[in-house]
Amino acid sequence: MSEQDKNRWQQVNRPGEGQAVCFDLCATMRLSDGQSVDVPEQGFLICFQGKLRAWRNHCPHAGSPLDWIPGQFFSDDGEQLICHTHGARFEPLSGACIAGPCPRGLFALQFQDQGDTVLVPVNVEITTEL
Ligand code: FES
Repeated sequence: MSEQDKNRWQQVNRPGEGQAVCFDLCATMRLSDGQSVDVPEQGFLICFQGKLRAWRNHCPHAGSPLDWIPGQFFSDDGEQLICHTHGARFEPLSGACIAGPCPRGLFALQFQDQGDTVLVPVNVEITTEL
């Protein structure tokens, strides 16, 4: 990985089916006055039905992390992602909110599938909220 890529991507192990891997993420919030603020957050990478998805670990309802126990995102039946703060439920592959108080779905992160490992972002730019 080039030095430039190391500033953009970090490598994590590929999660098993129905599992998630968490990673640190710097969220850069762009303010309306043109300034920006960096906020330490997490992202999580899941494998569901053999497909990978990476999401910001930030509930669209009130902004809390979704996982109840660190790294635990899936419902008991393994079919949905759950925010344990107020119980919102999300479709694992689309991130759409399918139940609960969220005004929108999860914030998708880019990733690069490399087989046994996956590249996930080091930071993400957020322009829709603070
Ligand atoms: S913070 Fe996630 S449902 Fe309220």
